[in-house]
Amino acid sequence: MKRILTILCALCAIITTGSSKTLLAYYSYTGNARAIVTELTNQISADVVEIQPAEKGLHYEANNYALGTQLLNAIKANPNDAASYPAIDPVNVSLSEYSTVIIVTPLWWSQMAAIMQSYLFQVGTDLAGKNVGLIVTSASSSISGVVADFKRLVPDANYLSEDLWINNSNRANMPTLVANWVEACGLNQNDNTAMSINVIVGTKTFTATLADSETGRAFAQLLPMTVTMNELNGNEKYHYLGSSLPTDSYRPGTIHAGDLMLYGNNCVVLFYETFSSSYSYTRLGSIDDPSGLAEALGTGNVSVRFEAGSTTNNLSPTLPSREGGKFLRNGQVYIRYKGQMYNVQGKQIK
Ligand SMILES: Cc1cc2nc3c(=O)[nH]c(=O)nc-3n(C[C@H](O)[C@H](O)[C@H](O)COP(=O)(O)O)c2cc1C
Repeated sequence: MKRILTILCALCAIITTGSSKTLLAYYSYTGNARAIVTELTNQISADVVEIQPAEKGLHYEANNYALGTQLLNAIKANPNDAASYPAIDPVNVSLSEYSTVIIVTPLWWSQMAAIMQSYLFQVGTDLAGKNVGLIVTSASSSISGVVADFKRLVPDANYLSEDLWINNSNRANMPTLVANWVEACGLNQNDNTAMSINVIVGTKTFTATLADSETGRAFAQLLPMTVTMNELNGNEKYHYLGSSLPTDSYRPGTIHAGDLMLYGNNCVVLFYETFSSSYSYTRLGSIDDPSGLAEALGTGNVSVRFEAGSTTNNLSPTLPSREGGKFLRNGQVYIRYKGQMYNVQGKQIK
């Protein structure tokens, strides 16, 4: 009995700690769906896979869309037969790594483009139980037929609360529509809950954003802590923790003032200068705005307190609101507000 319970607990742990990654799977014939995917990747963290027809150089729109029509008619005539679907290139993505999959597809004759239907015919059952979203681009036709194809091909998914329809009359507004959709579907939740901490040196408090990673989360578990950090090389302060943290090290190449790194598995390093480095580190996070950091840390060993901070943006008075979500990308802290990205000084990046 005890053994069965242990196995059950282990299974529960696997299920509850499952991946939270997002995949964007798209097909695009003339580039509109691709542009949506590019915008999405500016707004959320996601992997991207492009679905491509096996036969290249076809003109689906030629002769009054004859080929596109022919492909769709074949599917319609026999939707349960794999032979009805146009061949696509192999898609080397393991869907088990993803909890959310977003399908971005053109509309063809009020249906889902045949190439995307081929992909979903192959993987629809693997998407069961996952969060699955649909974005459709058309010239003008409404998307109910594409939604019906989507639900036929992906029958048992947790559909995101809204579909998104981009067409020629709202395309100029696409980034904002994508941002509103991302928000409505709760896809930016991870970013908005990025862990904020306070790094207190003497009388100065710096806010920092921890990496949304195993290492960042493990470091957060240790807080609050006040430690003596030792001076090294005129560019860093370091402290050896009493226990080790999970690592995922890489060579950043350039170290930036404000980088909070883990050297090995237990040495916390706070950099206060920007310089090139050949060493490997695991990122713990970054000080949001490192101005004044070098002065505060001084030239010798120094006492530094790390404690949990607020999750809301209180960084820049020039932002239109202080409610935007903070997130960390490529080691830099950004703030998202109404679909736009700002740096910590409040300058709009996108
Ligand atoms: C074969 C074919 C059929 C299409 N049928 C329609 C249609 O019925 N209604 C419509 O509004 N747009 C239709 N379109 C236009 C596309 O839906 C639209 O241009 C879309 O934005 C293209 O996305 P893409 O650039 O990613 O390929 C069709 C395009 C093709 C190639």
